[in-house]
Amino acid sequence: MTTSQARAARADEVPSAPPPAPATRQEVEAARSDPKQANILYHDWEASTYDEKWSISYDERCIDYARDRFALVAGRDGWPYATALELGCGTGFFSLNLVSGGVIARDGLAVTDISPGMVEVAVRNAKSLGLDVEGRVADAERLPFDDDSFDLVVGHAVLHHIPDLDTTVREILRVLKPGGRFVFAGEPTRHGDFLARRLSRLTWWATTNVTRLPGLRGLRKPQHDLDASSEAAALEAVVDLHTFPPADLVALGERNGAVDVRVETEELTASWFGWPTRTFEAAVRTEKLPVRYFFAAFHTWQRLAWMDENVWRHVVPQGLFYNALISGRKPADQKPAAGRKPGGPA
Ligand SMILES: C[S@@+](CC[C@H](N)C(=O)[O-])C[C@H]1O[C@@H](n2cnc3c(N)ncnc32)[C@H](O)[C@@H]1O
Repeated sequence: MTTSQARAARADEVPSAPPPAPATRQEVEAARSDPKQANILYHDWEASTYDEKWSISYDERCIDYARDRFALVAGRDGWPYATALELGCGTGFFSLNLVSGGVIARDGLAVTDISPGMVEVAVRNAKSLGLDVEGRVADAERLPFDDDSFDLVVGHAVLHHIPDLDTTVREILRVLKPGGRFVFAGEPTRHGDFLARRLSRLTWWATTNVTRLPGLRGLRKPQHDLDASSEAAALEAVVDLHTFPPADLVALGERNGAVDVRVETEELTASWFGWPTRTFEAAVRTEKLPVRYFFAAFHTWQRLAWMDENVWRHVVPQGLFYNALISGRKPADQKPAAGRKPGGPA
């Protein structure tokens, strides 16, 4: 995801977690045919290194990034939301930065994820920011909260991992208070993802071959690290279930009872640059790269993102951009017909 460039900063304030428990070969094989199990395995595995891998931080840059994404698709009315729930919170990147950015009240946040390892890190990150956040392990398709509990439900880069999105949207509307809002950002569009994956594969192939050449061998990662990355990428392919034409996201919200549904997209040339860059960095020994490389990469990404937002957005069709954001509301005067109490059948 090219948002890594946007949130690029080292997470110095995050205490180090214990090393991830290695998954057995049997677990990995079983997970290949069970996307939820694959999500738990893959994200538990990633939890302790996730902030570093994606350059997630809890400072001004990521606060601005999260707050601006929210404002782009949902505006600035109603801040701070008194009570909020995050689905697929990971290490807390989106909601913790929304709290710091004044979008969510400091004492009103609950975070959930299907991966216990992620919930543990998110709660630890919240503590390091002085926040008292409730963390629960929960599948987004079956939320362990009462009807009408929250003013806001948010998520970042999570919808594309969830098998049954209709059930999930109905669950979101069930736990929202009447008139409450949902905001999901960082979802891959169909065209954007198609191109990004091809660019990444090409970059991986080129980098792993070029670094065999004399003179560039010093950049090459040890073979077992490259093999581990390939194994992780194979599991990543199992956990990535959906890509979205923007109109499909609108239809998803509306057919399940949401109102005021709106979709925005962003990152065109920034994603063409960002994905190969991230892939290149995954394939080489980054400690051998000069510091100016990282500055140059980040500033290039920023300039391209600026062009995307201020120029290309006005002339290029929405579906060609990489990142989709969706927001909508639960009707103020009605509850969704297919709601359920927590613990009941999904
Ligand atoms: C790509 S990560 C994004 C994490 C975080 N939101 C961020 O942007 O950094 C997707 C997260 O969704 C979680 N997830 C996947 N399937 C889920 C489900 N069915 N219910 C809840 N969380 C899920 C994963 O465990 C993972 O932490």
